[in-house]
Amino acid sequence: MAVFVTRRIPTEGLRVLSQASGCRVQLWDSEEPVPRAELLAGVAGKRGLLCLLSDRIDREVLDAAGPDLKVISTMSVGFDHLSLEDIKQRGIRVGYTPDVLTDATAELSVALLLSACRRLPEAVEQVKNGGWTTWKPLWMCGYGLSDSTVGIIGLGRIGQAIARRLKPFGVKKFLYTGSGPRPENAAEFGADFVPLMKLAEESDFVVVTCALTPATQGMCNKDFFARMKKTSVFVNTSRGAVVNQEDLYEALANGQIAAAGLDVTTPEPLPTDHPLLSLKNCVILPHIGSATYATRSTMAVLAANNLLAGLRGEPMPHELQL
Ligand code: NDP
Ligand code: DGY
Repeated sequence: MAVFVTRRIPTEGLRVLSQASGCRVQLWDSEEPVPRAELLAGVAGKRGLLCLLSDRIDREVLDAAGPDLKVISTMSVGFDHLSLEDIKQRGIRVGYTPDVLTDATAELSVALLLSACRRLPEAVEQVKNGGWTTWKPLWMCGYGLSDSTVGIIGLGRIGQAIARRLKPFGVKKFLYTGSGPRPENAAEFGADFVPLMKLAEESDFVVVTCALTPATQGMCNKDFFARMKKTSVFVNTSRGAVVNQEDLYEALANGQIAAAGLDVTTPEPLPTDHPLLSLKNCVILPHIGSATYATRSTMAVLAANNLLAGLRGEPMPHELQL
């Protein structure tokens, strides 16, 4: 069972692989992404591939791997980096890491929302640079969650976990949108299913937690931001490509919306001279939704166990149904 692991992952995950009998691990032993040429060389002849969301696993990689490749295990819940049609055609099984990162990502999403709506990075900067001269009634005001309407795009695992955390802040109404109503997900919050544009119009906070698919790519665009209130805050912790970033920049720069918080961007990393980084009302984090020590360790172990189960022809703890 020869496997290629595309990055240095938490040791708990590597230990699972190295202790599995018959498993021979080739590791790209670096904090940095494997260069494409090394990925193509590393995967050649392997039965298993453990990859990350930053590895594009397409036909070129599958061709380089050859017919022995039986299992791909991604250490992520998102799978938009995998060419699923090509993978399915070759009969390769796919493992992923849902659930175990839901709490960490929801927590970070709430932190990001509060940072954006209460202007925390800007306020911290004022303390450091002497802008804090006295207590001023009109200074550093933002928007709060009490009596607000929160609109969630994609009321899945993470969307629900965010709603659960926001409810005690005094949110008055939850709205959600998706490919269809999900009464079983919405009941706990009394959330109403609405079309995307109605969600934009009525929400004080828009939180994006959907998967990136052809249907959601570029979904938050000029028309969407134009429908939002001038006082509304936009938060994205799903994938950067769900948002048209040029349109978001215009909306923030022109005061069409109040603020944004992004944990995900296009590209990643965002170039340090990107226009969005020049805006005071845009808080940008480096894709750290699941970044707690415990969560990353659990993700690595789950990814390793998915890989091994797939290689042994057993049910995976979490297999993506293709
Ligand atoms: P789920 O599969 O539970 O939820 C995905 C949601 O996307 C579903 O509610 C689904 O709604 C929704 N969706 C699909 N199509 C559409 C559409 N056309 N319009 C609106 N919504 C749609 O996944 P998770 O909650 O576990 O994860 C969600 C995403 O979050 C991941 O795919 C990943 O990209 C991202 N993520 C980011 C992290 C970070 O570090 N920032 C960490 C973890 C995940 P429906 O049921 O109606 O189709
Ligand atoms: C995922 O798992 O899809 C996140 O983006 C990183 O944890």
